[in-house]
Amino acid sequence: MLPLFTALLLVAAVPAASAAPVDLLSGQDWSHFAGAEQSADGVRITGLDRWITDTDYQRSQANPPVNVLGPRLAVTGDFQVDAKVSGSGSLQLYGALPIIYDEWRQEPPSVRVGVTGGKLAIAVWDGKSDKPVQTAKFGSAVPATTTIGVKHVGSELAFSVDGQQVGKVADRGAFSSGQVWFGADAPAGQSWSLTSLRATGKVQVLTAPDWRQNKVAGSWRATAEALPRKVGVGSAIAIAPLVSDDRYRATAGEQFDLITPENDMKPQFVQPRRGVFAFAEADALVDFARANDIDVHAHTLVWFEALPTWMRSAPDKKTVMLDHIRAVAGHFAGRVKEWDVVNEPINEDNSDGLEHNLWYQAMGADYIAQAFRTARETDPNAVLYLNEYGAEADGGRWQALYSLVKKLKQNGVPIDGVGLQSHEYSAGERVPAETFRKHVKALNALGLKVRVSEMDVSTSDTAVQAKQFGERMTVCRQEPNCTGFTTWGFTDKYGSTATVNQYPAVPGNALPWSASYKPKKAYTALVDALR
Ligand code: XIL
Repeated sequence: MLPLFTALLLVAAVPAASAAPVDLLSGQDWSHFAGAEQSADGVRITGLDRWITDTDYQRSQANPPVNVLGPRLAVTGDFQVDAKVSGSGSLQLYGALPIIYDEWRQEPPSVRVGVTGGKLAIAVWDGKSDKPVQTAKFGSAVPATTTIGVKHVGSELAFSVDGQQVGKVADRGAFSSGQVWFGADAPAGQSWSLTSLRATGKVQVLTAPDWRQNKVAGSWRATAEALPRKVGVGSAIAIAPLVSDDRYRATAGEQFDLITPENDMKPQFVQPRRGVFAFAEADALVDFARANDIDVHAHTLVWFEALPTWMRSAPDKKTVMLDHIRAVAGHFAGRVKEWDVVNEPINEDNSDGLEHNLWYQAMGADYIAQAFRTARETDPNAVLYLNEYGAEADGGRWQALYSLVKKLKQNGVPIDGVGLQSHEYSAGERVPAETFRKHVKALNALGLKVRVSEMDVSTSDTAVQAKQFGERMTVCRQEPNCTGFTTWGFTDKYGSTATVNQYPAVPGNALPWSASYKPKKAYTALVDALR
């Protein structure tokens, strides 16, 4: 059993049911909000044009930022939020944080209000679909500087402009969670200001959780840290559950000393427009890690997925790739231990063994060496990895990977190690531990470190799952060049093994903790392998 976890949200000294409005702006944190700039007058919001791109690389869902570390409300009945705004843009009130993946964003219930073309435009999401269930335009000749009101009253949501009600819609349970989180957006590159944000009614202001978590004896990390040779252990981590799910945060702090940002450092999130960087969520993950003595394995600089559409269509790919590496690796230098510099470059079906992705098409195979050289120049202290899937097994992918990294080493390319992802999505993908060991040894002979970078084992057979995780951990412990072991998510509740492109999301079964955070046999096997 995990110890009970309490008192994480710091409740500001605001009595419930206070009649006086509560200030959500001054003295509150809007500085960790992507696209926002906080000043004495309020907050300036600039449209980041952040999108989720689907597997066909098309924009499939807007991904407007949410102020994950800023003020949020606990509400216990009717309440009203008043926002003084100047210019065109939108404010979005969410009942929960969206859970964001590379190819989809699970939309929680929310209400968006904004001024466009002299009207108050509203949209309502019900948490059952990506699309709003209702949109409407209210009012006329709404001035550019105005106070917008959103009132939750009984089973309705009422909207006002400068104190005058302009329309109302049925409430679809937007705030039945008892929470209100704030997000904002604007058309790409355009800005507007929020100069006042107040709430009245049965509300309490909550602020970001304390990042520091308890350490416990006998945890996975404690067991790993007691070894004579350090092997980092941990998981991929996403910002939304880290902020909003106390069990997720507590487990991560207790159990891991090495984490990988699951998606929050990928290009579509950190460079949504060319030259416009948005690091708020990734910075928050790094801050959490540092507060808990956790190392960060950063992921990923060069890949062919999770790209903003502008990057895919840019004519000058080499400049784009090198600028991205310099900006992103430069931003995190000194705060992250390692980088996945190039992700998934292998395609064993091509005669050169390489994936002919957009970077390859622009620069040829040399894009890989250029990426590593630029990463090394930018952050000389980071340990640089190439990360690949399917190469822990014998066969063409392994052969192609081995030839590639051998050549890179021979050419003096600054590559330090190889990440073997170790996804086992089906019974046909189970890899014997001794095959993995053989590959770790072969890479050691080339002077390369190895890490198990993204392990997950989809199966309802918890014994088979435990065997796969445990044996792999044992080999990693035993082989001197195996430096780390991270699973791809840790609870079945979230992560790429849950089915999240339907409502409600369906939990997966591939990870060491169940959807209710019960450690599975796989967890015990991971710890036992280090005793
Ligand atoms: C996964 C993410 O976890 C998902 O959220 C996303 O929808 C698909 O990609 N190899 C990688 C990871 O290097 O970045 C991928 O992450 C899984 C495969």
